[in-house]
Amino acid sequence: MSSLVSHLDLIVPPEKATHTHSTGPDTTSNAGTFAYATNSAFQRSIYQKCEPYVPDLKGLKTITVVDYGCGPGRNWTYGLNLLLSRADEDIQYQLVLNDGMKTDWKEVAQVVQDYRAGQCGRQIGHFAVLPGTFYDQIMPDRTVDIGMAWSSFHWLERTPPPMDIQPNEDYYTAWQANIRSQGLEDLTKLLCLRAREIKPGGHLLVVIPTTPASSVKVYWEAFLEAFKRCLKDGTITPEQWRAFRAPFFQPTEDDLRQILTTVRDLWHLPIPWAYHTLAHPAWKTLQDSEKTQQDYEEYVDGIAGFFMALIRDVLVRALRGGEGINLECPAANEQSILQQVTTRFREAVLSEELRNKRPESCWLAMRLVRKHGVNILEAKANL
Ligand SMILES: C[S@@+](CC[C@H](N)C(=O)[O-])C[C@H]1O[C@@H](n2cnc3c(N)ncnc32)[C@H](O)[C@@H]1O
Repeated sequence: MSSLVSHLDLIVPPEKATHTHSTGPDTTSNAGTFAYATNSAFQRSIYQKCEPYVPDLKGLKTITVVDYGCGPGRNWTYGLNLLLSRADEDIQYQLVLNDGMKTDWKEVAQVVQDYRAGQCGRQIGHFAVLPGTFYDQIMPDRTVDIGMAWSSFHWLERTPPPMDIQPNEDYYTAWQANIRSQGLEDLTKLLCLRAREIKPGGHLLVVIPTTPASSVKVYWEAFLEAFKRCLKDGTITPEQWRAFRAPFFQPTEDDLRQILTTVRDLWHLPIPWAYHTLAHPAWKTLQDSEKTQQDYEEYVDGIAGFFMALIRDVLVRALRGGEGINLECPAANEQSILQQVTTRFREAVLSEELRNKRPESCWLAMRLVRKHGVNILEAKANL
């Protein structure tokens, strides 16, 4: 780890062990043990690899930065610190924090407050929150210097229609094939929208989960095993099984090439993207331990926390047959099913088959630069 990154870690407010704020749905909701805010250290470990993508901001007196899909955790502070480490000491910046209407905005405000309290030096920040979907234009034309999308642009605009996936199929692969055309369209749309907001010469940093052919998908394998067992013993119905639809498109490198070709008049890549396959930090802790029962329990806590925080609301929606509002408030019977899925997920992670497999995820990091010369009407026509 570089000295810059360890310095950045020092000035990021510490992740809270417990939460006092509780509102807001979706994966970002503060859902007790599976709150995103307390289960997102894995994502941050990826962002630590993004240092080479951060542009040089020296000489700029003011900048406007937008974090698209900031989430309720503190990960955005890491991204912001990375940017500021490349700027002059007296820069003034405006940071606009965007996420869906239903995210835990109280939590976001608390992190802003903690961040400001911990800030020292001459860099002056102005913060704004902007609830709303990033599938709309959310900033005026050509007003943004830097956009950041940390693990957020893989979210589809709409939950895709159901697909008949048999319990013996590889859900993950079948599902990604099913949603591919929607995924390509949505990600293209996001890049066109951002091309309107970001100034010519401005930057868009994107970190997006991808689909590596070789990576071991421990989380999905464990989850599918757990969900299948729930189907087998009648905990969930076949309708609920079919209604499980994860609204995440994890593009391959080929998919990205195709998308970037479509938007080539708007964006260019100054340096090639990087492709990082990382294991959840709990895996390293386990490898460094004596591997006692307690060590395995702590390991599976980390894995279950990470994965269930991501899919909890997708699961609640499935339990409701694919529909649903107030996903953050499961009824007592839904909570009991969530509990059973979680217990079985834990058992699957600790099974002979999976307990010694590295739980990997793969992320692609890139910086896009907004080209000069293409007018906004053309960007709009692309939508
Ligand atoms: C995996 S979280 C990442 C959060 C944060 N960027 C981080 O790195 O920890 C994805 C975030 O994207 C947000 N998101 C998903 N779809 C969105 C949309 N259409 N508009 C705005 N935010 C969205 C989710 O609410 C969630 O907070």
